[in-house]
Amino acid sequence: VAPLADASASAGKAAEGSEQHLAFPSTSQPPRRAPTFQQPSPLISFSYTPQRELEFTDSALRYYVAPPRGVKLDYGYERWIRRPEERGRLDGLLRAYARVLERGGVGDIGIVSWRGVMTKILTAPYEERDGWDLNVMCVNGTLYLEEHLSEARLKEKNEMEPRHMKMSYYGYAFESYCTSETPSRAGRPVGVAVDAPFAWSGDVDTNVQWCSVVKTKLGNTRMVIGGEVDCVEGHYSNRTDTFVELKTSMTIRGPPDHAKFEKKLLKFYFQSFLLGVPKIIVGFRTPAGVVKEVETFKTMEIPRMVRGKAGAWDPAVCLNWGEQFFDFLRTNMVSGSDSSVWRVRFAPRAGVTLSMLDEAGVADVAGAEAEDRVGFLPRWYWTQVAG
Ligand code: A3P
Ligand code: MG
Ligand code: MG
Repeated sequence: VAPLADASASAGKAAEGSEQHLAFPSTSQPPRRAPTFQQPSPLISFSYTPQRELEFTDSALRYYVAPPRGVKLDYGYERWIRRPEERGRLDGLLRAYARVLERGGVGDIGIVSWRGVMTKILTAPYEERDGWDLNVMCVNGTLYLEEHLSEARLKEKNEMEPRHMKMSYYGYAFESYCTSETPSRAGRPVGVAVDAPFAWSGDVDTNVQWCSVVKTKLGNTRMVIGGEVDCVEGHYSNRTDTFVELKTSMTIRGPPDHAKFEKKLLKFYFQSFLLGVPKIIVGFRTPAGVVKEVETFKTMEIPRMVRGKAGAWDPAVCLNWGEQFFDFLRTNMVSGSDSSVWRVRFAPRAGVTLSMLDEAGVADVAGAEAEDRVGFLPRWYWTQVAG
């Protein structure tokens, strides 16, 4: 939700001279072709503990259990352990990727990034409201992309309005109602407060996350993408076919709500598609957070659901755009060196600009830990891949 005025106030000016621009494709004409997107396959998974330590275990993996209807999503709000917003660092993903590299043989990887960044890029042709900034580096031919959050923007995200904070909590509370630490509800943790409503699986701690790192390919570009997976259905065995994404959304009361929901499905779709998550389970809630309906969507069927509708979107436009976007980066990030940092700025409807950061810009990106970084990459990782 970055307003552009704020994004442009961030530090880091373009280095002397050049700023490249890439305009958007028209979204009214279906593209003649779209690049293929390979079925993602997991390379490795990891968990963040309540202490926010990354460990290569599946301790944070959760199993889907159907939530009863009528549950209230404000339950436990005052006990929410909320992880503060951080800069969009790649550190965790790179620790996992480095492990994969040690095992050897993933081929030529063109792109490494979090799924959230990839979703922003691919859905940009239809984004009408929120701009975003990325920091990009190209090391040994691999592009690394992180979201750039200015200090001001971080502060804003951390000081969310109480109403927004509560709505944000609803999504996590739904996750607690829908998941269990074991494949069946019977195994839900003991020690839950006696007044806990039926089916509550434990208080929300947003430090805890289970992440899957997958390998896939868009057109000719192999990529490694990491992202949180809300839960699995039944079991997990190194495939994405049991992955489940959980979502909440306002109940639909009429055609305008329906159109709004179909627009939202674009983001639901790509978020899941990019990690190979085949199923999205949506809890439709009232403004006060009561779940009225739970509906399952098959990710691959979503584009067909919206085709030909008023606010229709076409995933081919997005995939085509994605390929163009990465070509544009590779073609233009030629000056400088492997330690150069580039800024990509997206503005709705206008398109994207690319510029190399000057020294002050790079220092701003490295932040307080400049000693331990090369550009925005952790120095240990830099030594390992560049050395
Ligand atoms: P909902 O998506 O059900 O609203 P995710 O769905 O990606 O797994 O994220 C889990 C929850 O985190 C979301 O649930 C939402 O409550 C919260 N969340 C995600 N992105 C957010 C953002 N940009 N601002 C506020 N809350 C956010
Ligand atoms: Mg999630
Ligand atoms: Mg979710």
